[in-house]
Amino acid sequence: MSKGALLAELERARADGATRDGLLRTTVRRIEAADPRYDWVGIYLLEEDTLVLHSYVGRPTEHAEIPVGVGVCGAAIAEGRDMNVPDVRAIENYLACSLETRSELVILIQDRASERIFGQIDLDSDRADAFTAEDERTLQQVADWLATLFV
Ligand code: SME
Repeated sequence: MSKGALLAELERARADGATRDGLLRTTVRRIEAADPRYDWVGIYLLEEDTLVLHSYVGRPTEHAEIPVGVGVCGAAIAEGRDMNVPDVRAIENYLACSLETRSELVILIQDRASERIFGQIDLDSDRADAFTAEDERTLQQVADWLATLFV
């Protein structure tokens, strides 16, 4: 994924007056379209002790709300760290969005200075071990940009 192009597009849209909701939706669409390994892409926002699904592209999910600590998504918040899960079948604390999903990547949307967490980007792939260190780095930069919408 060309994060440079995505960040430039987001900056332009922001300068043109796009709302935060619109920018989050654009981000999800662009990430999902960027790579065939990304079968489901969503953004959850943290509201008190619950992750609330803001927008997504992919198969419908039952998990529109996830308590902190539950599932890979909730664990990422509870532990304050990104999660790259190569095989979701090996994880006990996993909430299946789709039976075809094999691997999952969760990247926190966080103000790094204060460590305040606003939400997360969640990606699922039908391929095992789909997500690379490069994916993590790229998506962290996108997440860091998104965090500026909340501070
Ligand atoms: N798999 C996630 C739940 C979200 S769905 O994948 C969309 C989890 O274990 O938290």
